[in-house]
Amino acid sequence: MSQSLDEIKSALQRAIERAEQTKERGKVAAYIPELAKADPQKAGIAVTLANGETISAGDCNQQTTIQSVSKVFTLALALGTVGDRLWSRVGREPSGSAFDSILQLEHENGVPRNPFVNAGAIVVTDSILTSYQPKEALAQIVSFVRALAEDETIHIDKAVAMSETQTGHRNRALAHYLASHGNLRDEVDLTLGVYFHQCALSMSCVQLSRAGRFLAFGGGLGPQNGQMVSAKRAKRIAAIMLTCGHYDGSGDFAYRVGVPAKSGVSGMILAVVPHIASIAVWSPGLNKHGNSLIGTQMLEQVVNELDWSIF
Ligand code: DON
Repeated sequence: MSQSLDEIKSALQRAIERAEQTKERGKVAAYIPELAKADPQKAGIAVTLANGETISAGDCNQQTTIQSVSKVFTLALALGTVGDRLWSRVGREPSGSAFDSILQLEHENGVPRNPFVNAGAIVVTDSILTSYQPKEALAQIVSFVRALAEDETIHIDKAVAMSETQTGHRNRALAHYLASHGNLRDEVDLTLGVYFHQCALSMSCVQLSRAGRFLAFGGGLGPQNGQMVSAKRAKRIAAIMLTCGHYDGSGDFAYRVGVPAKSGVSGMILAVVPHIASIAVWSPGLNKHGNSLIGTQMLEQVVNELDWSIF
């Protein structure tokens, strides 16, 4: 990395200033009623470097639920629990369709395209449930994320989990469809209960950039703090983030930003700059693919200014 901390800090501040001036903010997700309360004017960014130092700007300490960004953490946990057997139940190809689409699932006999579309993530969570009871599985997910972030205060936002439990008809449809193909081992309600709660993990950009750094630094948290997953696994998860992390917007994201990243409908995005940094951004307004509009703009600006694209 050729930049000083001051140069990185000013790049983050410039991205926040531009975000504040941008009029078009996108649409806040409303299909989960609790998320509809978010303020689209908010924008935060945090970067964690190889030495563990975190630099941030804007609304970087405000917590929000991470939603689909949680799929990265459950994928890492599932691969640790069931290993490569997971790939007989879910693919590794980009979907080119919306995150909650059911169409492809029918064509492909109940095997979701990848672990980041909702159907795939539900299968991933279900695979963790083959080794644990639902409460235990949730506790495993929370403690894994706390260990990654080295932050014991990280918790689940119960109001958001409840809100999605009451309204998550599409995910219920997807889960029943998976079950009809024998690709759900646990009961639909139990698997979805864990899935809705993992999506409601609440974090700030600072906390998320810290939780994601194992993906940027070969599966580890730094020389003193040890290995969380193998380097090979971290590299492979990042590869899936690049190809599938933004659903049918993945190609455009790779073109504009050029780093592996995973988005969530709360407007959070976790991005990985291999060997250099993990970056978390947040702004609740979404583009037509359900990815943060201003968050993508901030990442595009920072990654291009600092010349951090992997290409
Ligand atoms: O399952 C859902 O619909 C949400 N809990 C998460 C979806 C999501 O974050 C899609 N990403 N942009």
